[in-house]
Amino acid sequence: QIRSISLRRILDSRGNPTVEADVLTESGGFGRAAAPSGASTGEYEAIELPPEEAIANAREHAVPRLLETFADDQREVDAALRAADGTDNFSEIGANSAVAISMAAAKAGADVLGAPLYQHLGGAFRGRNFPVPLGNVIGGGEHAKDATHIQEFLSAPVGAPSVSEAVFANAQVHGTIGDLLDERGIPAAKGDEGAWAPAVSDAEAFEIVEEAVDLVSDDLGFEIGFGLDVAAAELYDADAGVYRYGDEEKTVDEQVEYIAELVTEYDLVYVEDPLDENDYEAFADLTDRVGEQTLICGDDLFVTNTERLQDGIEQGAANSILIKPNQIGTLTDAFDAIELAVENGYETVISHRSGETEDTTISHLAVATDAGFIKTGTVGGERTAKLNELIRIAEDAV
Ligand code: PGA
Ligand code: ZN
Repeated sequence: QIRSISLRRILDSRGNPTVEADVLTESGGFGRAAAPSGASTGEYEAIELPPEEAIANAREHAVPRLLETFADDQREVDAALRAADGTDNFSEIGANSAVAISMAAAKAGADVLGAPLYQHLGGAFRGRNFPVPLGNVIGGGEHAKDATHIQEFLSAPVGAPSVSEAVFANAQVHGTIGDLLDERGIPAAKGDEGAWAPAVSDAEAFEIVEEAVDLVSDDLGFEIGFGLDVAAAELYDADAGVYRYGDEEKTVDEQVEYIAELVTEYDLVYVEDPLDENDYEAFADLTDRVGEQTLICGDDLFVTNTERLQDGIEQGAANSILIKPNQIGTLTDAFDAIELAVENGYETVISHRSGETEDTTISHLAVATDAGFIKTGTVGGERTAKLNELIRIAEDAV
């Protein structure tokens, strides 16, 4: 049974305040977790409140109710969070308080059972697969000013023999891109997730990423592809009905055509949010065209929400889903989205946010649910925290 829950403000990787929760059980189990925060957030995500407000409201409404629950019964904990909030988007206690408490309770539950978190969450029926890490290596969009329009270019070491080799491969691609930019005399800062953020055209970024991925793939002797998070909702001008790449615009049909061409030309293994979050129809059109060749993934489209995913499944909008627990507010909701996805043949990609902490819950979630991929950056402490945890879990779980 949960004895106490403390909530505090801590720093995230952008220097903004976020919510951290500590959960302590009567039997001495302890768990601590923190909420991440997005910059290119989806319109339909659960509500993140200012941390002070989220903490005050959670203390008043949620904590008393949670003291009657058991930390190792995740569904009970998360149902109590939902009941205490009383809305369908956590606008009362904040999805940031909710997800921090939900994840901290899971860790306390694992501690009570004396099991690692991935084992507690995955149970005895967990498989032995490890996710392929998608590493953000160049980007812009909402994550960096004056860089590419496409938000993320992602290294995808699909042929790596182990998770550790995949993690190091992404770091090598990142380093190689740094060298290639240097050779071209292109200065580059880094964006919010640690990816290079040079002032180059998207076309030049494709050239550089392709070269780097090929060089590293040849060096390491296994296949490394790449993919994109277009984050197209940020490019879409709903009034004009066009996608804006700086001064250039594309109609919806042109955008579908453009992405389909990129998939073929660069043999992309993964394309996230290639279209606006309200346009299931164009998503379905694109998936129909290239869904056999590549993963078309819904992030802002689905926001880890089973109702939105169900709509997508019915319309054939995609073939994979990004899972971000803070988009929906609890681990139970994230699990339900994963389950629905898997039942319908959708690939699952567990993901960080652009604003992160040292929290490593998503690494455990990815292993526990046999996710095909995890998207959690390439370099920088809040990113390597997750990657290094994956390496440790792989060693532990062999
Ligand atoms: P966000 O970006 O965390 O800023 O929303 C990550 C993503 O779009 O996948
Ligand atoms: Zn995204």
